[in-house]
Amino acid sequence: MSSKIKISIIIGTRPELIKISSLLRRLSMSNNFEFQFIDTGQHYDYEMDKIFCEELKLPPPIFLDLGSSTPAHQVGRAMILVEKQLQPFNPDVALVVGDTNSTLSGTLTAIKMNIPVAHLEAGLRSFDRTMPEEMNRIVVDHVSRWLFAPTQQAIDNLVAEGIEKDKITFTYDIHVDVLNDHFSLAKENSKILRELNLDKFVLITCHRQSNTDSPENLANIVDALIELAKNFTIVFPVHPRTDKKLKEFNLYEKLVSKSNIKLIKPVGFFDFLNLMGHAACVITDSGGVQKETLILKVPCVTIRENTEWIETIAAGANVLAGTDKSKIVAEVMRMAQPDFHQFMQMVRNPYGNGETSQIILNRLSSDLHQK
Ligand code: UD1
Ligand code: UDP
Repeated sequence: MSSKIKISIIIGTRPELIKISSLLRRLSMSNNFEFQFIDTGQHYDYEMDKIFCEELKLPPPIFLDLGSSTPAHQVGRAMILVEKQLQPFNPDVALVVGDTNSTLSGTLTAIKMNIPVAHLEAGLRSFDRTMPEEMNRIVVDHVSRWLFAPTQQAIDNLVAEGIEKDKITFTYDIHVDVLNDHFSLAKENSKILRELNLDKFVLITCHRQSNTDSPENLANIVDALIELAKNFTIVFPVHPRTDKKLKEFNLYEKLVSKSNIKLIKPVGFFDFLNLMGHAACVITDSGGVQKETLILKVPCVTIRENTEWIETIAAGANVLAGTDKSKIVAEVMRMAQPDFHQFMQMVRNPYGNGETSQIILNRLSSDLHQK
């Protein structure tokens, strides 16, 4: 193939927009590729979608306005919408990211059209098949032509499932590229610490189905925050799913009534980076945030029973507290201490130096130009 390689990038949610930003930047500068950028619109609120296109200066996506629905309806409709875009562009490769319903829809659509799929963030496993994301990852990995694996553990997982080694490329993690590209911009542009008048604070994000859709688990998390608010300001940018469930389970008022708990809308990436970078400790069930905190040398308490990002646990930078109120409180109290922050300075980053986008483009160039 002597002409440019045609690549369709299909994403749909906040973390995918963030993860793809560095790759898109390098694609825009490359002479080897012509690209199409499709956003299904699984996330659609301004602060879950467009704010990232603006801040991260993404090329304008083809926005498909998918919206929220049941999983089957969401995946089915996304496939129909994505197919309409892939047909006229006729790409050589479709690239998907992570483990969302948009990742699955993009993958299934492409393989039905005989377009080979490249999966960025392949091989991650929590070994918890009750997670919708785990099923998405397994399906996507097993039908993809290129598996871009961020860690040795991810490679081991793929090989253990019988995936051919020549399909797998070790890439390190794309979040390092993204932080390298944006951290100093975030420091210059974000005013959130001043706006919220923050000094010593704990930052929390929560959106995982197992936490939000269980009244008991969500109540435990809320109780832990109320306890921690005796010692810290709590900053809680609330994911729309969580906002809905906190209100449905009558937990929202409990949090709002505490002056030391700041419930805010989800924030842009620059504000979020600045919040993470200055937090005494971060509580999260997010995949991306577990890695970003390690890279920024900030302690993390994960409100899940398992994690795909086991390197963060092995490094001592992250602990699994589940939704046990006492455990969450005890771990935050321990990890927010100055001596723990000193320990964090010595934690080694296992996710590379920011070469992931280039490794991916090199592999695709080399394989597709040989065709
Ligand atoms: C999705 C992904 C999850 C990812 C997360 C990132 C799946 C199965 N899950 O979860 O892996 O970690 O995104 O944030 O794909 N909503 C709004 N506005 C929006 C988006 C969502 O109000 O812009 C509300 C709707 O009520 C919707 C609910 O949030 O029903 C859940 O949204 P959905 O995209 O289905 O799943 P997430 O929980 O966001
Ligand atoms: N993030 C953000 N604003 C917020 C919360 C998170 O910009 O209010 C960023 C965060 O830095 C990370 C990504 O969103 O890069 C994580 O997204 P999310 O937790 O929704 O998804 P997950 O990583 O769990 O799939």
